[in-house]
Amino acid sequence: MWRLLAKCALALATVAAVPAAAQELPRLVSRDGRHALLVDGAPFLMLGAQANNSSNYPAMLPKVWPVIEAMHANTLEIPIAWEQVEPVEGQFDFSFLDTLVEQARAHKVRLVLLWFATWKNTGNSYAPEWVKRDTARFPRMKKPDGTTHYALSPHGRNTLEADKRAFVMMMRHLAKIDRDHNVIMVQPENEAGSYGLARDHAPEADRLFKGDVPAELVRALKVKPGSWTAVFGKRAEQYFQTWYLARFIDEVAAAGKAVKPLPMYVNAALGDAFTDEGGNVGPSGGPNWNVIPIWKAAAPHIDLVAPDIYNRDALAVESFLEKYARPDNALLVPEIGNALDYARFLWPALGRGAIGFAPFGMDATGFFNYPLGAKALDAATMEAFSGPYAMLAPMARDWARIAFENPVWGTAKGAKIQAKVFGRWQIAAEYGRWQMGEPGWTSWTKIDPHPLAEAPVGGMVAAQLGPDTFLISGSHVRIRLTAAGAAPNEQAQIISAEEGSFVAGKWTMRRRWNGDQIDYGLNFTGEPVMLKVTMGLYR
Ligand code: DGJ
Repeated sequence: MWRLLAKCALALATVAAVPAAAQELPRLVSRDGRHALLVDGAPFLMLGAQANNSSNYPAMLPKVWPVIEAMHANTLEIPIAWEQVEPVEGQFDFSFLDTLVEQARAHKVRLVLLWFATWKNTGNSYAPEWVKRDTARFPRMKKPDGTTHYALSPHGRNTLEADKRAFVMMMRHLAKIDRDHNVIMVQPENEAGSYGLARDHAPEADRLFKGDVPAELVRALKVKPGSWTAVFGKRAEQYFQTWYLARFIDEVAAAGKAVKPLPMYVNAALGDAFTDEGGNVGPSGGPNWNVIPIWKAAAPHIDLVAPDIYNRDALAVESFLEKYARPDNALLVPEIGNALDYARFLWPALGRGAIGFAPFGMDATGFFNYPLGAKALDAATMEAFSGPYAMLAPMARDWARIAFENPVWGTAKGAKIQAKVFGRWQIAAEYGRWQMGEPGWTSWTKIDPHPLAEAPVGGMVAAQLGPDTFLISGSHVRIRLTAAGAAPNEQAQIISAEEGSFVAGKWTMRRRWNGDQIDYGLNFTGEPVMLKVTMGLYR
């Protein structure tokens, strides 16, 4: 009896040790077109990293945590595979999830679970063998000539029921073992859609395609009712596939949320960054930017749709960020290449209010996804990511709160927009500058070219705290603040530029920048710092 009492007391003590706020579920909130991911009841900036695809086994975790730590990441995104949790139909094994959550708790790192199931990069490779082998029960899509396409059909009711059941079991187990919410988000499926075939041509799918666009979608898109082809023309098959695939995933997500309502998102394999005219829209049905409104209508249980960025062109990245940062969609970059030249895109992502960012392939299992990402995680590559993360980590919650409440903006070298007006101030970025001097000085002294002038590094972010006060950071960039539209006799001056951080939610200065440190713009190196800058005008 006393043993039982002791056990109860211990259980109570464990519950009591978790502060009330820590038991609050993570959730996404939106206000005035801005968004925040609340974790333990307060805004949280996800400084993330995604492990490689096959790192979802206990034996791999010792090769994951050191990289997460070296990056100063606060969140690990990692797969949970259907084949791993239900290898035999109806028999579930959550031992990896147990190990993962326990180790994440010990490392004080949050988790995002990637549910690799019916679709992983559109394929079914992570579905259990009993699903892969039974095409009668779990149908693949059919091509117009009746032959079989590789992808599982979004019209397969058995597939949906089986996927949903496993997902619910996983969420139920999570609800039991993770009362302190180390898992902060879940991604049902991965890069869903289909390559090489815009929609299923099985008889039932054909019947639906010949029918009318569902009334909910007609209402959501404010289009005239009619058949898919009559309403959407050349985009009809993509939109049709999107609607049914998003409905499928929404049902999986809804069932999981009924057990534990964590924020859930889907990730997109992206098509063309600027236009959908030519039909380069990524896999058909996936949440490419041109079908975001369809996903919003079809999948109300999906909190956001997110871009996986493997395009090194800054103009394209800028365009993707613009397209996914919407008043109805919080920006999250759940995957971006882990090569050095992608690191600078953290800044424009933050500048669009991103709730999180995660380079892909961040572990020491020896796999590198070059040419998408890095050839190796050498010191320079690691530093490109870990430098900004190290600076942001202690103030990640402060930044998230500030970005939720204030205007923010950011850019990177190569992007089209390099300056932004905030009220009476313009903030502009320049790259390839030494920390001192002006390009015009060549008239009286020789200046060596800057070694990084042509390098794909450099970016910045700013948040406007008040009419004349900004938080500013960046790497390999010179930032200038000038008066925008001041009277002819008014001139701008830096009143103060404090380098510092947030301690217990309060700005805490380490030193003031002055003299050479402000006379030639604000010059940030590869070791980013945060500045709080107050501007003034004098006559
Ligand atoms: C995007 C996918 O979502 C990832 O799982 C991975 O396969 C990368 N592509 C490529 O490494």
